Amino acid sequence: MRYGHFDDAAREYVITTPHTPYPWINYLGSEEFFSLLSHQAGGYSFYRDAKMRRLTRYRYNNIPADAGGRYLYINDGGDVWTPSWLPVKADLDFFEARHGLGYSAITGERGGLRVKTLFFVPLGETAEIQKVEFTNTTDVVKTFTAFSFVEFCLWNAEDDQTNYQRNLSIGEVEVEQDSPHGSAIYHRTEYRERRDHYAVFAVNTRADGFDTDRDTFVGAYNSLGEASVPRSGKSANSVASGWYPVGSHSVEITLEPGETKSLVYVLGYVENPVGDKWADDAHQIINKTPAHALLGRFATADQADAALEALRDHWSNLLSKYSVSSGDERLDRQVNIWNQYQNMVTFNMSRSASYFETGIGRGMGFRDSNQDLLGFVHLVPERARERIIDIASTQFPDGSAYHQYQPLTKRGNNNIGSGFNDDPLWLIAGVAAYIKETGDFGVLDEPVPFDNEPGSEVPLFEHLTRSFEFTVDHRGPHGLPLIGRADWNDCLNLNAFSTTPGEPFQTTENKTGGVAESVFIAGQFVFYGPDYAELAERRGLTDVAERARGLVDEMRDAVLTHAWDGRWFLRAYDYYGGKIGTHEHPEGKIWIEPQGIAVMAGIGVGSGPDDADAPAIKALDAAEEMLGTAHGLVLQYPAYTTYQVHMGEVSTYPPGYKENGGIFCHNNPWVMIAETRVGRGGRAYDLYKRIAPAFREEISDVHRLEPYAYAQMIAGKQAVRHGEAKNSWLTGTAAWNFVAISQHLLGVRPDYDGLIVDPRIGPEVPEFTVTRVLRGATYVITVTNSGADGAVAKLTVDGAAIDGNLVPHAPAGSTVRVEARV
Ligand code: GLC
Ligand code: GLC
Repeated sequence: MRYGHFDDAAREYVITTPHTPYPWINYLGSEEFFSLLSHQAGGYSFYRDAKMRRLTRYRYNNIPADAGGRYLYINDGGDVWTPSWLPVKADLDFFEARHGLGYSAITGERGGLRVKTLFFVPLGETAEIQKVEFTNTTDVVKTFTAFSFVEFCLWNAEDDQTNYQRNLSIGEVEVEQDSPHGSAIYHRTEYRERRDHYAVFAVNTRADGFDTDRDTFVGAYNSLGEASVPRSGKSANSVASGWYPVGSHSVEITLEPGETKSLVYVLGYVENPVGDKWADDAHQIINKTPAHALLGRFATADQADAALEALRDHWSNLLSKYSVSSGDERLDRQVNIWNQYQNMVTFNMSRSASYFETGIGRGMGFRDSNQDLLGFVHLVPERARERIIDIASTQFPDGSAYHQYQPLTKRGNNNIGSGFNDDPLWLIAGVAAYIKETGDFGVLDEPVPFDNEPGSEVPLFEHLTRSFEFTVDHRGPHGLPLIGRADWNDCLNLNAFSTTPGEPFQTTENKTGGVAESVFIAGQFVFYGPDYAELAERRGLTDVAERARGLVDEMRDAVLTHAWDGRWFLRAYDYYGGKIGTHEHPEGKIWIEPQGIAVMAGIGVGSGPDDADAPAIKALDAAEEMLGTAHGLVLQYPAYTTYQVHMGEVSTYPPGYKENGGIFCHNNPWVMIAETRVGRGGRAYDLYKRIAPAFREEISDVHRLEPYAYAQMIAGKQAVRHGEAKNSWLTGTAAWNFVAISQHLLGVRPDYDGLIVDPRIGPEVPEFTVTRVLRGATYVITVTNSGADGAVAKLTVDGAAIDGNLVPHAPAGSTVRVEARV
């Protein structure tokens, strides 16, 4: 069952009912100002940091769900309703929410009045625009009043929901009903002391009234759906003093039959230089000059439309870097539009703010951000470069890393812990991807500090060396990497032994046993080690490169010797040196991570798809057999039914959820890539389709989350709610699935000396064209595909046959035609 449909020409998902199983959201903004927006206008806005600079309130865990947003109440002759359906929930004659790239439009109609609100954050602005069109669809004149509404957050979102003894006394606003471009409300809590920023909420016409005090607007003991001011039909002109500041303007509108009128609302974030905060000597009136300038840029509907057009062009340009035309609209829309869009969102947000992440707890992850980069780097390489430097600047001199850093300060955050021994190697992954995309080897000479310590700068390449050597220096009894606090699987805490209820596994004391080893990190080392060696080689460090290659070979041998269980790769050795992920155990016999990463790294691949004795083939077959479901591969099987103190958080989840036998959409693509590595593209594509949201649209009632964004997890086969997704949007799933489909199945991936064309997608996609813009040159790659297992492409480049699969880099501005026969 579906709740809407894709509109590919417009690059939108069209939700046709408010009654989706869960709020289906979109993200507005891609630079500094961001908004989360559900199809019912729920969500919130922030400037750069979802914790420290929250503009508006949202209530997680609330009843009813999705409470808090930007609402427009209509009072039409006493009939009060909201076009976004929530919060009033009056029946609508028409409802439609269109989520597009960086904008959404929500339309509701009732009683012959159609109200369409377009929401977006313009490029280069720190504001959300809400352009509203009111249309009279009847043949009589209509007069009604529109009441806007936002509820301000007192900036620090955590403090805002905990520190009431202070906060209920500090709220301050200014109202400017005769603002140069309409009417404006300023939220200026804490501006009189140390803050240099305020929020403005304005409408581009002189409002008939306003409210800034929540209890007045909503009415004591009312829900938002019962708000009293809209019901009374008239603003109370309340001025907040402490308690709960809000922003609302009322505008009375008269429409002739068929007539449309529009209003533009702006919710903005404004900063003043510290010496220029005030408009008066007594420091009582805030300096509104920059706010007025902002409002002047959106004083008319035409200005708003032009800004939306610029945003659309911006996205057309971004998405032109990689696109496929395959004849399957689901594949095309997934690759060309939604996956790349989600890559941008994850790059911007890391794991901070979604409907599953409160924006309070988590900063930028060292591991997460490096992986997010893999799917983002082709969109805006300069921003990827900046991110790499930020991440590397938090590294410790011994190569280890804070697990996270705060986006505002860019400082490592110890509250989340450290000692995740996979973290360092992800830096090599991120840097290698960036250089393959751009050819900017110079980045390796960039001076980068350790732990942000001025004076400690060394060239970025030295950071990669520390990452590599960290793994080399932390090997256990089998020559495999020590796991530390955990590896990619945050919940595999082999040194923690926590028995205290509620104690966070991320920070609990970690025993330094020096025994627990990770086969995942071993695979990661074999996968990314060659990139380190290659970069060393290109810097003339032949000895370093040679040594690195030798160490990679050693690790490969260690995996085959000590991490092979007979039919699949082991997952780890525990604190006592016991095996994890072995057929010898009743639960957790086989885990997905090592099967994916080891085979991706080429460990045990043998002679290809027909080599039934090759460990890689056995491991992938076992993975499908034991982990496979119609909704993707579960993380391990059987899931743990009891708490395993020596394994930590992984066994805290009920069977089938999250890291305990859930379908992690982040590591399924490793298996897809592994399948292409052994030449089984058909199997790779089959797995791709099982988890790709656009292919799951028809089962939206089972999947329940957005059909246009990947979720972190789908409940596994032992879960009560098998097939149901959770944690949509902010997950490494986005980047990895894009890498898998674009680079390994469709098979077009940048490399140091050219563009590799190596399609392995199986017979279901017999022909397709990929257009790839790389370093300024455009490659149009037409593929005729038998899809046979093990088949390798033969290429012609501008008509001439070439050996191998590397198309050399062409000059910027040129167009290269590549034909591939597989
Ligand atoms: C989450 C975390 C990521 C971790 C994964 C598996 O997605 O953000 O860092 O690798 O879970 O535990
Ligand atoms: C990751 C895991 C999650 C775990 C969390 C700890 O996000 O997916 O299960 O609780 O890390 O921060």
